[in-house]
Amino acid sequence: MELMEAVLTRRTVPPVKLGPPGPDPALLRRWFEAAGAAPDHGRLVPFRFLLVQGEARSRLGELFSRALLEARPDASPEEREKQRRNPERVPLVILAVARIDPAHPKIPEIEQIAAAAAAIQNLLLAVHASGFAAKWATGTPAYSATVRKGLGLGEQERLLGILYVGTARASQPAPPKPEPEAIARSWPEGGVPWRDGG
Ligand SMILES: Cc1cc2nc3c(=O)[nH]c(=O)nc-3n(C[C@H](O)[C@H](O)[C@H](O)COP(=O)(O)O)c2cc1C
Repeated sequence: MELMEAVLTRRTVPPVKLGPPGPDPALLRRWFEAAGAAPDHGRLVPFRFLLVQGEARSRLGELFSRALLEARPDASPEEREKQRRNPERVPLVILAVARIDPAHPKIPEIEQIAAAAAAIQNLLLAVHASGFAAKWATGTPAYSATVRKGLGLGEQERLLGILYVGTARASQPAPPKPEPEAIARSWPEGGVPWRDGG
């Protein structure tokens, strides 16, 4: 798939619409080559990925469900069941972990998070361009101490994304996106850059 087409047609597909198959090992490696190709100020590589497949998916689902119960004891059984089942629905869950050094002498924290997010977006585009689909989720599990501990994350590590990956079993409507005119303007005139010279 051509790059521009991949960028413009990628969309979030929820776990309930995803299923097997997942990627083969060679393609999987290629996806992480794509992730590692993202811009990264100071080349700190402020991210790593944990891949959850097979039996481990159920353990992850249990962790997510426990995290929800701890954060929201009033969560309904349906909500808990959804968190528990989500990882099992897909062949592959990729946990995107940002490794932030808040005291770095040159690269501020926000830039490290931006670099990690850029790596995730490269990964999502690679997934889509190779015929698979994904959802970037966060929610309660991403901010849970129980999940952090269960995954063995370090002190300065943050779970930036829970990426559910698989093959789309149903189509997903395109979400609304901002018009180019709403997000890009000439400075200082404030005109539309691609019209009448801005
Ligand atoms: C940092 C981040 C966290 C997200 N967390 C969630 C989430 O917890 N639940 C969810 O439904 N979507 C989540 N999303 C996905 C967005 O909702 C989705 O990208 C948006 O609706 C646009 O749809 P699209 O990806 O199809 O363009 C997250 C996206 C980002 C960038």
